[in-house]
Amino acid sequence: MAQNLLKQTYPWIKTPLIIGAPMRLISLAPLAIEVSRAGGIGFIGSGTDTSTLEHILLHAQSLLLSHPIPHSPPTTLPLGIGFINWGASLPLALPLIARFHPAAVWFFAPASLASLASWTAATRAASPATKIWIQIGSVAAALAVTRACAPDVLVVQGTDAGGHGLVRGAGVVSLVPEVADALSALAAEEEGGKAPMLVAAGGIAEARGAAAALALGAGGVVLGTRLLASPEANIADGYRKEVLRARDGGQSTVRTKVYDALRGTTGWGEEYNGRAVVNRSFVDAGEGMGEEENKRLYEAEMEKGDAGWGVEGRMTTYAGAAVGLVKEVKGAADIVEEVREGAVRVLEGLMGEARTKL
Ligand SMILES: Cc1cc2nc3c(=O)[nH]c(=O)nc-3n(C[C@H](O)[C@H](O)[C@H](O)COP(=O)(O)O)c2cc1C
Repeated sequence: MAQNLLKQTYPWIKTPLIIGAPMRLISLAPLAIEVSRAGGIGFIGSGTDTSTLEHILLHAQSLLLSHPIPHSPPTTLPLGIGFINWGASLPLALPLIARFHPAAVWFFAPASLASLASWTAATRAASPATKIWIQIGSVAAALAVTRACAPDVLVVQGTDAGGHGLVRGAGVVSLVPEVADALSALAAEEEGGKAPMLVAAGGIAEARGAAAALALGAGGVVLGTRLLASPEANIADGYRKEVLRARDGGQSTVRTKVYDALRGTTGWGEEYNGRAVVNRSFVDAGEGMGEEENKRLYEAEMEKGDAGWGVEGRMTTYAGAAVGLVKEVKGAADIVEEVREGAVRVLEGLMGEARTKL
């Protein structure tokens, strides 16, 4: 989607586009709305449990009624909804999509390509104005999903991303341009074929990363981990503190299935795991502690509240490899503006330098 088409579709946005990731249980109405209010697109993280979505959407609707977002269209919600498709319920989601008309839906981790195609077709029929965004983590998935679903936007998720993603992945620096080339070649095979817009996710927490993603060919930039350190994120103080403490994300975070096993979130396919900060549970699992004992200790730790997070704690801190760049709590709208305006400054600075070298 070219930038002018992007603005026609989402008239409240400012470019370069900054997107708030649909983080399950964390990105609820207040966070999604603040991201959109700042000229981004905020996604509600509906995740695997569709039973709470109506409540979240009613909350969003009432917040927007009392304080509308300028230039937002009258007939669609200026927000998206993210589903983790292997667990989400299409029969519960569909009437809500038809009733609330979100500007976009974001699909991730379907049980099969066929089920993803069903979600896509049903959403398009229920709410033609709702754009289809699909998160993928490989060139093969980008091609398969584009052939099966013709999404409007592909979210290209690199392996640095916080939360769940592919066990075997690449960083956005190689993944985004390779996906772009593969999709251009696919589009060229068909008359009038057009490639979906790409947005980059994974390891982008500030202006320099955002500028790099735009240079790679992304039409927008997704923030997940960075937004955890905003007051609008629905997380415990202990979690937020741990995000602010962790540095050197390649060392302090890890991709693992250990946390899923402890938390009972075991419906993920074999090819997925989650990136989170290393803690006592992970170290104990590596040193041979059995799952039952580790789970017992995890459940006991839940009683400690905020004190349960930390290197010696057992509560899970899902966060990406860019966690070391997250140093302060800031309002979500300020984060969006800072990253968007900073990325433009970085790119302008590079242009200036390139010209003086000529
Ligand atoms: C705490 C957390 C929860 C997440 N939950 C979801 C989710 O429910 N659905 C989804 O599609 N992606 C989820 N993600 C992944 C994001 O969509 C995105 O790919 C990722 O946050 C981008 O990388 P970053 O964290 O480095 O910004 C989550 C990420 C985090 C950090």
